[in-house]
Amino acid sequence: MSVLSGSDPQAIGLAVDVLCKGGLVGLPTETVYGLGARADDDAAVRAIFAAKGRPANHPVIVHVVDAAAAQAFCADIGAAAQRLMSQHWPGPLTLILPRRPGCAAAAAGGQDSVGLRCPAHPVAQTLLRAALAAGVPGVAAPSANRFGRISPTLASHVQQEFGDNLLVLDGGACSVGVESSIVDCTRAPPALLRPGGLDRAALESTLDGPLASPDDTSPRASGTLASHYAPAARLRLFPSATLAQAWREQSASGHPAVAVYSRQALPTVVGVPWPSVRRMPEDARAAAHELFAVLRELDSLGVEQIWVEEPPALPAWDAVNDRLRRAAAA
Ligand code: TXA
Ligand code: MG
Repeated sequence: MSVLSGSDPQAIGLAVDVLCKGGLVGLPTETVYGLGARADDDAAVRAIFAAKGRPANHPVIVHVVDAAAAQAFCADIGAAAQRLMSQHWPGPLTLILPRRPGCAAAAAGGQDSVGLRCPAHPVAQTLLRAALAAGVPGVAAPSANRFGRISPTLASHVQQEFGDNLLVLDGGACSVGVESSIVDCTRAPPALLRPGGLDRAALESTLDGPLASPDDTSPRASGTLASHYAPAARLRLFPSATLAQAWREQSASGHPAVAVYSRQALPTVVGVPWPSVRRMPEDARAAAHELFAVLRELDSLGVEQIWVEEPPALPAWDAVNDRLRRAAAA
């Protein structure tokens, strides 16, 4: 089966069949690729956990085609959630809402809340609409990577993670490149659980007030574990001021096992034939878009370490800084 074009109606039909029967499908979204199963089938959802090697008590996000479809999973959509949905769906925003009793227990990881997202990617939209018509109310999908590893932003990344037996719908490179922002709407004011594709400022302007920060009472979230999104190589973050000097010393030592991702140009070192320096874009959105693909590329060089220049400590960089800090903590 393997990778099929997501714009081929036959491939969509095949994917819907697989979902209906409780199987798994790789699907593109505008943030990252997901590993999907029908959300109303606990056994199908448990197959996601098994494939990922992810603990079964971690909740996964349920993807729905629109706000009306969200009602199958959530009985009580409060005013704040309504506003966020109407302004930012479809888009890179997940809302944690009270779960409709008796539904999607496995996707919710046993919690009484459920994470709902309406993705904007046209292939995801087409798939969700066709699935709904076939009786599948929503698709549970975490990022399509093994637990703790780098999220996939290309169909080929998903194939690298799970092999040829998984049907993957190819929707090209994910435009956003980092996961959705997650807002917990089971509390007032809502709390930002994970910075992501949608800026905090945009969310706060919709809510007309500040978001709370997560605390001890916030729901568990694997995307919020200290070590996550990690390459096989050790990732080290360097302040801009110390990177060039560290690089010179490393070069002089003749130790070749380092790749670098930095905004500044590093001095060429004569006699060190490292092909592995990538420039990070100055623009936060452009950096988010390519981040996971670049980390995968540098990782595939087989280096021992990936050195990354710390991005600016500015709100626009929140999602990228968050992912890099977690990758460095692994
Ligand atoms: O952009 C995204 O959100 C991607 C694409 C595929 O949509 N999905 C994604 O899923 O990042 P995943 O499984 O890697 O992240 C799921 C996270 C959990 O770790 C947790 O933080 C949060 O979503 N979550 C889901 N349901 C929840 C719930 N009921 N309560 C609290 N957090 C929940
Ligand atoms: Mg993930």
